Amino acid sequence: MKSLIVSICFICLTLLSFSQNRIHVVPKPRQVIEKNGEFRYSANTMIHTSPEFRETAAYLAEILGIPSKNIQPLKPGSKPASGIVLEKTPGQDSAAYRLSITDKKITALTAHPVGALYAAQTLAQISLTGTKGILPCAEISDEPRFAYRGLMLDVSRNFYPPEYVKKLLSLLSLYKINTFHWHLTDAAGWRLEIKKYPELTTRAAWRSSKTWKDWWFGKREYGNENDPKSYGGYYTQEQARDIVAFAKSRGITVIPEIEMPGHSDEVMAIYPHLRCDGAKGIPGELCIGNDSTFIFMQDVITEVMSIFPSTYIHIGGDEAGKGNWKTCSKCQKRIKDNNLKDEYELQSYSIRRMEKFISQKGRKLLGWDEILEGGLAPGSTVMSWRGERGGIEAANMNHDVIMTPGNYCYFDKYQQEPAGEPEAIGGYLNLQKVYSYEPIPAELEKAKQHFIKGAQANLWTEYIPSMEHLDYMIFPRIIALSEVLWSDPANRNWDEFKSRMYWQYGLLQKMNVNYCRPSDKVEIMPAIDPARKTTSIKLNTEQYKPEIRYTTDGSNPTATSALYTKEFEVAGSSMIKASVMRNGSSTRIDTLLIDFHKAIGRKVIYNKPWNNSYPAQKESTLVNGYKGTLTYQDGQWQGFTTDMDVVIDLGETQPISSVSGTFMQIIGPGVYMPDFVEVSISNDGNNFVTAGKSVNDVPTTDPKLSFKTFRVNLENLTGRYIRFYAKNHTGFLFADEIIVY
Ligand code: ACM
Repeated sequence: MKSLIVSICFICLTLLSFSQNRIHVVPKPRQVIEKNGEFRYSANTMIHTSPEFRETAAYLAEILGIPSKNIQPLKPGSKPASGIVLEKTPGQDSAAYRLSITDKKITALTAHPVGALYAAQTLAQISLTGTKGILPCAEISDEPRFAYRGLMLDVSRNFYPPEYVKKLLSLLSLYKINTFHWHLTDAAGWRLEIKKYPELTTRAAWRSSKTWKDWWFGKREYGNENDPKSYGGYYTQEQARDIVAFAKSRGITVIPEIEMPGHSDEVMAIYPHLRCDGAKGIPGELCIGNDSTFIFMQDVITEVMSIFPSTYIHIGGDEAGKGNWKTCSKCQKRIKDNNLKDEYELQSYSIRRMEKFISQKGRKLLGWDEILEGGLAPGSTVMSWRGERGGIEAANMNHDVIMTPGNYCYFDKYQQEPAGEPEAIGGYLNLQKVYSYEPIPAELEKAKQHFIKGAQANLWTEYIPSMEHLDYMIFPRIIALSEVLWSDPANRNWDEFKSRMYWQYGLLQKMNVNYCRPSDKVEIMPAIDPARKTTSIKLNTEQYKPEIRYTTDGSNPTATSALYTKEFEVAGSSMIKASVMRNGSSTRIDTLLIDFHKAIGRKVIYNKPWNNSYPAQKESTLVNGYKGTLTYQDGQWQGFTTDMDVVIDLGETQPISSVSGTFMQIIGPGVYMPDFVEVSISNDGNNFVTAGKSVNDVPTTDPKLSFKTFRVNLENLTGRYIRFYAKNHTGFLFADEIIVY
């Protein structure tokens, strides 16, 4: 009996330690089986390595604090009884690896140096998120989902020194990101030494104002390397080569981007002969009618290819205005001589010509999705940034695609509520949204899905003047993207991810990374049942295992308010307040008003349609009870590029005391308040009587994200139909709900 109890206790203890979750690796490996026990390492631990993995062995030794003299060649057929073994196995699969951690030894098996590096990075993460000197026993097998896992850094709008680029590459490698797309040229500064064109870096790499904003909204003048008042910088070819070599040692390919034919203002500031004739000021688009443009680009790309061994050479291709080409005699002659239809085909001509040059040198052209316009060059790969559309189109044409849609991959957007954040370009992309990204578009047929090679995050740096700020914008969002790109999507789980991120935050602190801390904001997520007039509520935060307390009576949550453990239901109109509690106090209070107003679930007639890009929840949007959040891309904000003109049918004539609707303004992307809202009432749906008007008082020049509720109060009015008319100022109107009492 006693021995049975002892056995049961032993089994319980064993199960307990099995379920301890001591391994917190991100991206999540394909399979982790945690085992009892641990491998202990010290300065005496030996590392036995196949000769191909010697560089990785040295890296691992450094991370674990093992002297490099302890690295020994692994003799073929030998089986060391202890220490760390990095062993080459036969096979082709370059990035896959297996790790066995026992209390006696660690064995990493893989066919390729890249696989060895990933095994080492997994060990590095286990060590850096755990206790020094201890690696918990486990069996891990792993391989990536996508071959291309990238991050793009714009070093034109702001320049970051080579040391920072290397620090960033080290961190990216730790998270198994394998591609660094380096946006080296743009209007705000040319950043790579080109020996044949020294003025690119003595002049075009320098500008008159330190901040991009002052420069861009000012005179946009260029400076000079020797002028201490000039702001800028560049990478010498030697520095760039050093960065490429360092990246390679960390399993990262560096893809250079040299922009053409647009975003080339800085080139023409110093080489005006490359402009279109008749172009005014400093134009952004190179003249395509001018052969000198191609000679210049080919010379530059030739030097670029001597520095960067990457298969891909990125030539930009985005956002080229067509205006100057329309009036330039040389561009028009080029169109005529080549039987081109228009300026889109002219742009395509320029890309095709570069593609031919690049592919003749054994490389591949990569470009933003505008390279689809006017005809896609053969052999080119498309980076889909204006949503998924370009990626789908290119994949359907059997071209390779890298996905980088703005909604999920633009890390220059805000990641927390803008009010408390450093100024960003606009938009909103939080960690959970990045984590929710699926790179294979739902509508892409199975046979074409293999053309999606992966995805990348883009860091445009107009509003990111310092390295600390850059850290902040990249981390932790890139870690979420790394899991999206590496791990099995069937294993994706936000709560479980947060549990591993808890440990990763500690790692980032150890590495002196100025990452964006998880927010205490409680997202209150309602599921409204209009028929029952009830609402199910889920609460969510970026915190791991938070203590969330909430109220439903309008009072502020305290240490004794209801503890959130699972989804709950409230009846009728209510006010939910919720807060993450720490040491018995609330951190901040978030509120959601659930309002079963008279229009909920009613029919809405659109006198003018919504804009097709922003349908939100179509006919139900404005009367579904859901308020929009901070981003117009959340599926609750409906967009209009005309006046907004809708009629709500309340089903029967009844008293109406007020009608209101909230609008968003963020003028960067062209979203404005309406000039006014006018409400009119009808009993028959034909004859409307104006009930009142609410006029905008938010300045339409204010660049901050703002919201305004336009309310019309009605005195003693009854009606069945309510016409809600909002006058479009310019650009987009965005409305989320029309509330009727
Ligand atoms: C881009 O964001 N212009 C590619």
